[in-house]
Amino acid sequence: PLIGSGAVVAPASAAVRGVGAFNVIQLEHAQGIVAGAEDAGLPVILQISENAVRYHGGLAPIGAAVLALAGAARVPVSVHLDHATSVDLVHESVELGFSSVMFDASALDYAENVAATAAVVEHCHAAGVWVEAELGEVGGKDGVHAPGARTEPDEAARFVAGTGVDALAVAVGSSHAMLTRDAALDFGLIAALHRAVPVPLVLHGSSGVADADLVRAVGAGMTKINIATHLNAAFTAEVRARLAEDPDLVDTRKYLGPARAAVAAEVSRLLRLLHR
Ligand code: G3H
Ligand code: ZN
Repeated sequence: PLIGSGAVVAPASAAVRGVGAFNVIQLEHAQGIVAGAEDAGLPVILQISENAVRYHGGLAPIGAAVLALAGAARVPVSVHLDHATSVDLVHESVELGFSSVMFDASALDYAENVAATAAVVEHCHAAGVWVEAELGEVGGKDGVHAPGARTEPDEAARFVAGTGVDALAVAVGSSHAMLTRDAALDFGLIAALHRAVPVPLVLHGSSGVADADLVRAVGAGMTKINIATHLNAAFTAEVRARLAEDPDLVDTRKYLGPARAAVAAEVSRLLRLLHR
């Protein structure tokens, strides 16, 4: 069934366990992620980024399908709007029935960021929707690595107090869209942020983090673990292999089906890894 993100993340945080939050681009991603979560018997967060919404020409076409999948799932599934800079899009996702949103007003100066984020929190909380924000921008959104960005613990605590957000994405050494899993996380900073910040912490760019370091990051206090590129790599490798082995293959189900199954297998493995 569809469940609030707080109901997934808060107990995990209290138990020092990680929750996988996986990005959906096509329907097959969502189906593969739900199948993987059902296989693991664990809750999962499906997230749709503002970029993915743009790709589909709007939130409803992909958002409604993902919400329907979540509702029919045999495990608890949350549906989250990821990396939203548009307040209108946040409002639309709330109306559609999303469980949570990530709102990013980091392009504004600090005081305006706090005010804009607090307004989003007020709107979302009135509808029972959980809000994540980001402080200390995680680099590499357009494939450019900026692993040097760091979130400062005292500033993070002030930001959470000033905005009322339910979770905070922090910059601790990971970087978006890495194809190699060799990011060097700052585990001391994760522990310091965990001590300073009273809400669950979110790790972005987790595709670049090796299995053992994901486990260590959860142990140090990270709870929501965002993974996108790594699943795309698994999906696309399967598509590439199927097309390469049969030049006459034209039925899209014959390569998207195996790609979806590859996503399911990797999601099941990662959810178990993060939960232990
Ligand atoms: O918000 C989404 C994530 O931060 C995904 O990043 O593609 O590097 O795993 P990634
Ligand atoms: Zn991210």
